[in-house]
Amino acid sequence: MKSLIKKLVEIPGPSGFEEQIRAAVQREIKDHADEIKVDALGNLIARKGKKKDGGLRIMLSAHIDEIGLMVTHVDDNGFARFIGIGGINPLTCYGGRVLFMNGTRGVIGVEKLESGKLPKLAQLFIDVGASNQDNCPIGVGDVCGFERPFLELGDRLVAKSMDDRIAAVIAIEAMRAITDTPHELYFVFSVQEEVGIRGAITAAYGVDPDLGLAIDVTRSGDTPKSVKMETALGKGPAVKVRDSSFIADPRVVNWMVETAKQAGIPYQLEVLEAGGTDGRAIQLTRAGVPTGCLSIPCRYIHSPSEMVDKNDVQNAVKLLVALLSQPIKLG
Ligand code: CO
Ligand code: ZN
Repeated sequence: MKSLIKKLVEIPGPSGFEEQIRAAVQREIKDHADEIKVDALGNLIARKGKKKDGGLRIMLSAHIDEIGLMVTHVDDNGFARFIGIGGINPLTCYGGRVLFMNGTRGVIGVEKLESGKLPKLAQLFIDVGASNQDNCPIGVGDVCGFERPFLELGDRLVAKSMDDRIAAVIAIEAMRAITDTPHELYFVFSVQEEVGIRGAITAAYGVDPDLGLAIDVTRSGDTPKSVKMETALGKGPAVKVRDSSFIADPRVVNWMVETAKQAGIPYQLEVLEAGGTDGRAIQLTRAGVPTGCLSIPCRYIHSPSEMVDKNDVQNAVKLLVALLSQPIKLG
């Protein structure tokens, strides 16, 4: 699993520019799906199984896009100005390294660092080593992701795009592990989540599921003076109760909790004050779908060093396999 994580987290794929990561995921799942398609927005949708007696059409969603930057202007000296794609914080930009979709690399500079003051995004620029507009290999509209190698710190795994590639890994591992299911499973690797949960909207409409489950990272409350939050790294995957985008269906929460208890898998309950997932899009599609979310506690979300715990990842795979291998009765 570790080599798969390393492979997927290091690929750039800002929202709307997911072709490289989509191709990589497709290579990993092609022998484990009964049918694979890519919809008009670029969502990768893989079906496994056919609905049998007592089975449901279930949509799982893990987004493969990540936050990034888009060039707005290159000045006469070859410095590129940019806007954020998704939730970019200037705090985590300065000195960072970026990788453009065409392979160009760059570093992020700032006009002037004033002590005690956080620069605005508009005061930052990307330096790709060019000296004028003509020898600058990137231009208006080009996009980049942050570049950081995958890092292992004991049981903790660190990367620039754990949000949400770790969920893609969990979905892939579950897909490989599930051998027998009464359900028709649609593993969706969705696009454009970071710019407003867009890919999952069309994917959910197309799949038309009976039940939905998003898989995404969530915050943790276990770092110095962090926000008060119950979830912590290493205490198990989290069953989402609510975030600011949707309220998980209590029947789905109950099903997830009971399955975890029966299988002896540690779990935590998650109440996230601010943040959203693909669960919102699935729940609100068509006439509405019972939907929940399996979350992976993560530190430093939307920084180039997002951290998860290896045991939570493994337990998330186990829980997902247990959830999807048996008939479901939503009480
Ligand atoms: Co995110
Ligand atoms: Zn996410």
